[in-house]
Order: sequence, then C-alpha cells, then structure tokens
Amino acid sequence: MTQDELKKAVARAAVEYITPKLFNDSIIGVGTGSTANFFIDYLADIKTRFAGAVASSDASAERLKKLGIDVLDCNSVSELVVYVDGADESNAYLHLIKGGGAALTREKIVRAISKEFVCIADGSKWVDVLGKFPLPVEVIPMARSYVARELVKLGGAPVYREGVVTDNGNVILDVHNLQIIDPVGLENAINQITGVVTNGLFAAKPADVLLLGTADGVKTIKAL
Ligand code: A5P
Repeated sequence: MTQDELKKAVARAAVEYITPKLFNDSIIGVGTGSTANFFIDYLADIKTRFAGAVASSDASAERLKKLGIDVLDCNSVSELVVYVDGADESNAYLHLIKGGGAALTREKIVRAISKEFVCIADGSKWVDVLGKFPLPVEVIPMARSYVARELVKLGGAPVYREGVVTDNGNVILDVHNLQIIDPVGLENAINQITGVVTNGLFAAKPADVLLLGTADGVKTIKAL
C-alpha cells in the first residue's frame, strides 16, 4: 500500500470510530494536513449526523465549508466531543510531534477543548523515541533570534522555516537534533521561553487513541 492509501484507510477508520459518538448537536474538532484532508472528505458522507466543526486551520475550515459542513468559531463552543488529526510522529505513550503544517497552536487549542483526541497516521509516523522529525516551535516574530539561542541551550539546532507565516501571524523554528527522552519536560521547558507561543509536542495532553495505518490493516492503539 502507498502512504496515501494508508492515510485514506485511517481517515475512513476515524469516521467509523467517531460515528457512534455523534448526536445531532455534536461539534467535532478537525485537524490539518494531508491525513486530516482525507478525513474531511470522508466526513462529508456523515455530515447530517452532527452539527458542525471547529477547525485547526484556515485551510481545513475552507475545505469543510466547501463540503457543506458548518464551521464554528472556537470561542462559541465549550466542548468538542472528539478531535481528529494527524501527526508527524507518535511514540507508544501517544506523545506526538505535530506542526509539520505550521498549525500547531490552533491544534493545541482544539485538543484542549476536546473530550477525546483521535490521532490518525500512517505507519511511518510510529517511533520509539520522538525527535527525528524536527520539532516545530511557533514564535512571535521579534523573539525569533532570542528563542533560537535558548533552544540551542536546550540541545537543539533550530532552523527558521523560511517564508512561512502561521494563521496567527507568527513564525516557525524547526528544532533538529533532539532525542526527546522526556517529552512532557521538554514541552514545558520550551513553552517557558519568552516569545514562544507553543511547541509541537503533544505530551502533557497526548492523543487518547491512535489509528495507525499498516500493511496488516488499521491498528487501534491506546496509550501505554
Ligand atoms: C499540521 O500542523 C500537523 O500537525 C499535521 O497534523 C502533521 O504535520 C501531519 O500531517 P500529514 O497528515 O500531512 O502527514
């Protein structure tokens, strides 16, 4: 199976997984990226089963609207029944690296108000130790150099993602050379640096379930 076929398989599995949890007034959280895009496309098949969605990016909001799914302002919703999104890496604790698509801050906000986070990923995202994928950090533009120096002190090699401005008007530093042994500790440490909006580690609040696409089918994985 190709990587895209695996992404489609987990996207379809996510629709099946969430369908029994939906009521007419349910609002769901929808993520960003190529796997989330497949999920959005399949979600259209069940759009009459729920009330609407909160999206983690302008791009996902547009895709949802084009398919006739109502998109709500996050501030008008107190709780999302479920949040479905991809990831760049996951370990066995379902600690994730996210933000390859620069949507990490809105993803964290959507995750924060969701009862359950269902992560969907093809098998290439499964790792023993997080950090091979460079860790994205969203930064207020005027703090970019200062934050980069502080990230070097934490052992990383930050690289400015040229030409990318987030939906929030900020910039991204991708931190290479990390072997993330303590994801919760590193997530908190980076978030303490002045000028950091947030970083792409989802460890303090990990995924609740991972639907992982493999050659043997979609595996449903709960955190260790
Ligand atoms: C977006 O900012 C990311 O967190 C994505 O969820 C992540 O990069 C996975 O993207 P793909 O589904 O495109 O691999």
